[in-house]
Amino acid sequence: MSVRRRIMVVIGTRPEAIKMAPVVLALREQPWADVRVLATAQHRQMLDQVLAAFGIVPDVDLDIMQPGQTLTALTARLLTRIDDVLAAERPDIVLVQGDTTTVLSMALACFYHRIPVGHVEAGLRTGDLDNPFPEEMNRIVAGRLARWHFAPTQTSRDNLLREGFDDEAIFVTGNTVIDALQQVAARDLDIGVDVDPAKRLVLVTAHRRENFGEPFRAVCRAIRHLADAHPDTAFLYPVHPNPNVSDVAHDLLSGHERITLCRPLDYLPFVAAMKRAHLILTDSGGVQEEAPALGKPVLVLRHETERPEAVEAGVVRLVGTDYDAVVAETSRLLRDDAAWRAMARGVSPYGDGRAAARITELLGQRLAA
Ligand code: UD1
Ligand code: UDP
Repeated sequence: MSVRRRIMVVIGTRPEAIKMAPVVLALREQPWADVRVLATAQHRQMLDQVLAAFGIVPDVDLDIMQPGQTLTALTARLLTRIDDVLAAERPDIVLVQGDTTTVLSMALACFYHRIPVGHVEAGLRTGDLDNPFPEEMNRIVAGRLARWHFAPTQTSRDNLLREGFDDEAIFVTGNTVIDALQQVAARDLDIGVDVDPAKRLVLVTAHRRENFGEPFRAVCRAIRHLADAHPDTAFLYPVHPNPNVSDVAHDLLSGHERITLCRPLDYLPFVAAMKRAHLILTDSGGVQEEAPALGKPVLVLRHETERPEAVEAGVVRLVGTDYDAVVAETSRLLRDDAAWRAMARGVSPYGDGRAAARITELLGQRLAA
């Protein structure tokens, strides 16, 4: 390709940064790609630490985050500011990743500017607009607006085919989260938070909007009970800074000698924590993808998942947010070594570490056509 193509890569939140970093780094090696990174900074501190870990400096930074932001106000701010950026930058193509408000807003703004969109991590679906909320709608809309769909698995490709998308616009690439994980997991990593080396570690994360309120309170009460009931176990919980999460977590879980609450861990320390963990309780999408690749059992604090592959492989279980279910399923894995071992198998249904290379090659072919 003799003409360099202007490719804008958009990053809003922590998981987008982790999953887009391998794509940015791979594209930067291509002579035909003029890569521009737009950070909307829907997240601020959690985004900056990932960009620093991968040595990525955004070309444009909208610094959009406000504490306790509402979805509507965030979307309005994003649309207005993105409009100016697209008018000034005129990219040939924009890449978005996943299902956040940044993705929805960017895909819509590109539609208005008639700029083609490539959707990374396309085709994930639960089939339920309330779970996860608002992400299921965000990814449906982003998918409808995208020209190219980089589906992580055959299941996600099938979801898109079922919705009538053109077969030739969907590519199974694997998930770039495994690329990122492989780039760091072999390093000598340190959690940076004191964890009793004599105890088994249960790692916890939670942030989903549909769990705010009573479901999340029930999960916290279950964790406190589990810490009481299993004195040979320590809980480490890096608390998401959303006030709907952090206020409740500190209210219900602080002051217990075997529960450590800390700020969100930077990506490398968090990978260290996953490697050290005996099992993981989470409602995170990314952690459901990473933990199986590290051989760590995951209990998902949700009623549905758009990532059925690891559940089908038997290494991830959906337990929901009911107090009794969280206590029973976690206790079972802490007491029954055979049940734990059956889930502690290293399988990686979400990728082989080459997703970014595939996306880059496909883009090169498409943009040359
Ligand atoms: C967002 C995404 C969700 C994704 C999650 C990853 C949407 C609607 N939600 O949810 O899909 O799974 O990110 O973590 O796009 N905050 C900080 N510092 C930060 C980041 C967040 O203080 O670095 C606090 C702020 O008070 C902010 C709040 O968290 O207003 C919520 O952030 P927001 O991006 O709106 O939603 P998340 O719950 O983080
Ligand atoms: N993560 C991190 N520090 C933490 C918790 C999670 O670096 O304290 C990473 C994790 O490795 C994964 C990503 O953040 O790659 C998942 O982000 P999150 O759970 O916020 O969003 P989701 O994946 O649910 O959209």
